Amino acid sequence: MPSLPEKPLSNVPLQLHQPKNFQFDSVPESHAWRDLHDHPTVDPIGPDTVPLIDLTDPKLTAKISKACEEWGVFQITGHGVQPDLLTRLEAQIHRLFALPADRKLKAAKSPGDVSGYGLVPISSFFSKLMWSEGFTISGSPLHHAQKLWPDDYSSFCDVVEEFDNVMRQLGNKLLHKILLSLGLSKEDIIRACPVRDWHDMSAAVQLNSYPPCPDPDRTIGLAAHTDSSFLTLLYQNSVSGLQVLRPKDHTGPMRWVTVPPVPNTFTVNIGDLMHVLSNGRFRSVMHRAMVNPAKHRISVGFFCGPPMDVKVGPINKLTGPERGPIYRPVTWQEYQRLRRKLFDKALEAIKIGEEIA
Ligand code: OGA
Ligand code: NI
Repeated sequence: MPSLPEKPLSNVPLQLHQPKNFQFDSVPESHAWRDLHDHPTVDPIGPDTVPLIDLTDPKLTAKISKACEEWGVFQITGHGVQPDLLTRLEAQIHRLFALPADRKLKAAKSPGDVSGYGLVPISSFFSKLMWSEGFTISGSPLHHAQKLWPDDYSSFCDVVEEFDNVMRQLGNKLLHKILLSLGLSKEDIIRACPVRDWHDMSAAVQLNSYPPCPDPDRTIGLAAHTDSSFLTLLYQNSVSGLQVLRPKDHTGPMRWVTVPPVPNTFTVNIGDLMHVLSNGRFRSVMHRAMVNPAKHRISVGFFCGPPMDVKVGPINKLTGPERGPIYRPVTWQEYQRLRRKLFDKALEAIKIGEEIA
């Protein structure tokens, strides 16, 4: 669990963030983290293997239900996304992050803005910098892409838009499967699901770059967090780094479990708003990204959420006399605002009877 820093970073000049494009011989103090080894890290074997689910499996609903209840995260095959699209997207991400720093800074996020190049969104809560760069796309990538490549932005925009389209449909399908796996009927879902169809969903794409690091045990690519979304679909290249936090159970203590990259899979994780929608039955999962001594890791997060103006609260059918609604309804925007203020205390802050914000 991340400890809140004594002195949070605010408005770190981006130039300071990645001097020399991460070409360091050792980890500088600005990027050296303590408390990274609060819990042991275990290999993904035996009971510590993240569920891998084929979306064409006839027992899909039962498998998703078990994975969401026990893990809050699973990997998927049979999703229908063409490997060629992922290869083309990966090539564009490498092209973006390989640009000189001054070029990338032309597309820097403006203060208060969601989209653009810069520190990963949770950076402001920590006094240390993370070993990563991010590029967030919410809406059209055109404006920022034109700044990065004035003469050749369309190849980037075309791939990102194609990916966005395909992933919205996949995200919407998964959202419905997850609701079915909560025991809701198709009619219940039509009535209660805040997303009517995939055009309706709000989504954001987060491109992450984790350069190789000379001393990976002293720093972190992305600090521990949960996502605010309903669900997040993560694509990672062939370099390992993603870990999820497993609670203490009969097989061991609280521990970080690696989610290995499996070619042509996505990792699906439950976010805070699904936690709310399911009235706490499907818990959002804490996760983080480590860095590699030799290899450049990239990942793409696709965050799926409700339309921005729709309030999300526990679905009526999932509450009952013995377990009333635990959370008050919020829009994604309101919730993101709370997260920016309270970070990992945001979910608690919308608990009925415990509102603190
Ligand atoms: C994220 C995230 C993990 C990774 O972008 O929210 O958790 O492996 N990324 O990059
Ligand atoms: Ni995340």
